[in-house]
Amino acid sequence: MLPLFNRYKAFKNYFFERTLPSLTGTVLEIGFGKGLSLTSYRNADRVFAVEIDDNRVRNAQRLLDKHHISNVFPMKGSVEKLNFESIFFDHVTCSFTLCSVNDQRKAIQEIYRVLKPGGTFIALEHTLSDSAFFCFFQRVLSRPLSFCSNNCKLDSNPQSILAHVNLKVTETRYMPFFLEPPLYVRAVKNESLI
Ligand SMILES: C[S@@+](CC[C@H](N)C(=O)[O-])C[C@H]1O[C@@H](n2cnc3c(N)ncnc32)[C@H](O)[C@@H]1O
Repeated sequence: MLPLFNRYKAFKNYFFERTLPSLTGTVLEIGFGKGLSLTSYRNADRVFAVEIDDNRVRNAQRLLDKHHISNVFPMKGSVEKLNFESIFFDHVTCSFTLCSVNDQRKAIQEIYRVLKPGGTFIALEHTLSDSAFFCFFQRVLSRPLSFCSNNCKLDSNPQSILAHVNLKVTETRYMPFFLEPPLYVRAVKNESLI
């Protein structure tokens, strides 16, 4: 069992310790929760970090002050109605956030709107299991569990959310992991679209 948990940790570290530090330019992160990811943007010019929960915004600012990080700006907001002009960001990122958003279609449309052509959307989310057994329980338990887990839906399917916009998926990584198999997705906005 331990090797499986170590693999899960390594899987997540690919996003937090390799992807986020490599990003440059202007970045948007949505739903940063405790804000631990916000210390990872070592090469970005500016990171605007949007979170719906006021307390989490305040805590993130304290965390950033403690680490003397000045390129990250946490703010209250919702991914379903982003307060940014269109074609503004080089990258949009999120981890385990789309699963708890009320209107996922609106969320991905807003992400798409604010991305520059050639910009990337990079997400680490949990997804539907490729095992029929686990998938069955994900679907059955999703609704009841969402009431006691901050609206997180166990049967969230990030790839089907992406299908609502014209983003080209360039990288996916999946790992079987019980009821919350993680999925890493990188998708790019077509250069010719404005
Ligand atoms: C499961 S937590 C994930 C936190 C963090 N990204 C992580 O990887 O641990 C989901 C976060 O998304 C936030 N959230 C939910 N709906 C949102 C929305 N519409 N806009 C912005 N943030 C949202 C929640 O407040 C919560 O902090």
